[in-house]
Amino acid sequence: MSFSRAIKIAPSILAADFANFGAECRAVEDQGADWVHVDVMDGHFVPNITFGPATCAAIRPHIRGVMDVHLMIAPVDTYIEGFAKAGADIISAHIEAGPHIHRTLQAIRVSGAKAGLAINPGTGLDGLENLLDMIDLVCVMTVNPGFGGQRFIDMSDKVKRLRALIGARPIHIEIDGGMTPETAPLMARAGADVLVAGSAVFKGGSVDNPAPYGANIRAIRSAAQAALGVEV
Ligand code: DX5
Ligand code: ZN
Repeated sequence: MSFSRAIKIAPSILAADFANFGAECRAVEDQGADWVHVDVMDGHFVPNITFGPATCAAIRPHIRGVMDVHLMIAPVDTYIEGFAKAGADIISAHIEAGPHIHRTLQAIRVSGAKAGLAINPGTGLDGLENLLDMIDLVCVMTVNPGFGGQRFIDMSDKVKRLRALIGARPIHIEIDGGMTPETAPLMARAGADVLVAGSAVFKGGSVDNPAPYGANIRAIRSAAQAALGVEV
């Protein structure tokens, strides 16, 4: 996984057919996805439940590229090894999920995965400078976590401040929630490089008709790239 700030689209399988994860992962990658974003919810940290490490391990062989696991669970630490063994390339934990985020990030790196720090819309960047040397990604939530298909909450100012704080460090800025061809340019311009999109990628397609996934991915990517002045 080499570092680049080029725009990357990470479809969230929260919006996929849950009875068909393997084929859905293959379909979005074939259609141009850069990463596959996997949302783990526990019914405690967030008011919804998805799945755990066993499902991640089952999905893994169907992903050629990066498996980006977003843990919306509390506590986190006891489960990190399980998600790393399941083959997660990146494991993100929420700063709000417990009192010892430093320990959690250490444990993620020890597990061999890249460490991500997820931040809810209501949380600021206080204390982040103490964690910059131990993270590979910051996931800025632009919805309150728990469900797909919610309305985008503009976090442009936070993302700009975060981009300045990161400076030249090899840390990705990922945006999660409400990403569409309309909202992605705002986040790209603010400094984000990874755009998670669930409903806006999977809408209109299926594993038997995956072409809309490709059109949806291209629409988000080209809108974000155009905002950066990249030739599309
Ligand atoms: C929300 C999840 C997101 C979600 C995004 O809790 O973390 O990854 O699936 O879905 P959309 O793109 O539909 O807002
Ligand atoms: Zn997510």
